[in-house]
Amino acid sequence: MKKTAHIIVFGNEKGGSGKSTTAMHTAIALLRMGYRVGTIDLDARQGTLTRYLKKRFDYITRNNESLPSPAHMSIERSRHESVRQNNDEEEAFLLMALDELNRVSDFIVIDTPGTDSFLSRLAHSYADTLVTPMNDSFIDLDLLADIDMKHYEIKGSSIYSSMVNTQRKKKKARDGTGIEWIVMRNRMTHLNTNNNKVIADLLDTISKRANFRLAPGFGERVVFKELFLKGLTLLDLKEDQDGGLTLSQISARQEVRNLIVEIAPETAKGYAKPPSGKTKNVA
Ligand SMILES: Nc1ncnc2c1ncn2[C@@H]1O[C@H](COP(=O)(O)OP(=O)(O)OP(=O)(O)O)[C@@H](O)[C@H]1O
Ligand SMILES: [Mg+2]
Repeated sequence: MKKTAHIIVFGNEKGGSGKSTTAMHTAIALLRMGYRVGTIDLDARQGTLTRYLKKRFDYITRNNESLPSPAHMSIERSRHESVRQNNDEEEAFLLMALDELNRVSDFIVIDTPGTDSFLSRLAHSYADTLVTPMNDSFIDLDLLADIDMKHYEIKGSSIYSSMVNTQRKKKKARDGTGIEWIVMRNRMTHLNTNNNKVIADLLDTISKRANFRLAPGFGERVVFKELFLKGLTLLDLKEDQDGGLTLSQISARQEVRNLIVEIAPETAKGYAKPPSGKTKNVA
């Protein structure tokens, strides 16, 4: 079957940087824009995206309220004796999931684990768009490049950016297309402005070298944790409910909207158009 869905992979090899949170917000935002969305959780051990959606279904049942939700699949790591057998089986499962979701989706959102694995690498090689959330610190910069922290100089590629490069080549060889790589800063605080400036400058230099684009990120906000527990996203909150939105929630929602515009602009070039007559607003 011809692939028509646009695949967005959320990846990096650092735990806890916001992949699952951003993947969920992206999926719900696209649904609310009128697109059909499928999701795949490749981090079945932690299963954050799967648990997030489970909480959403519980919320829907409890409140008898209809909320847009994606068609979801979760892929377990294989546990055979031989690595070859594991890889073959995992590849078969991923291709099957992509094929199934491709039939019913304009976008397929894939959440990957915060560690290197065959399945994660393979998923990267199918990404039309790769989104890498990174915590806003020097420590996370070495995810993107090998940096001499004493002189703030870039010495070479990082393990992760080399891996992305390899998957870009694989994708190019397979279907002739590239991966659009977007890096977003997450959990930004506005405390240390000097550090922020150095990080921003370094990121700018690394982006040209590693060939990614910087997208607007999210601030550090407790609301993300609260929403996870309810199975909701910022885009599900209503102005006229529970006393309205707080200023922090309104700012956070705007940050999500800004990111979505970068990841999947409404003017998306022909790969997926929202069905006519449906809302095109992100919320
Ligand atoms: N902008 C933010 N502000 C505050 N908390 C956040 C923010 N983004 C994510 N978090 C919280 O940080 C934790 C880790 O986020 P998340 O699970 O999305 O990261 P991850 O990259 O998927 O982690 P892993 O690599 O373990 O899969 C969660 O508790 C989440 O609610
Ligand atoms: Mg996760």
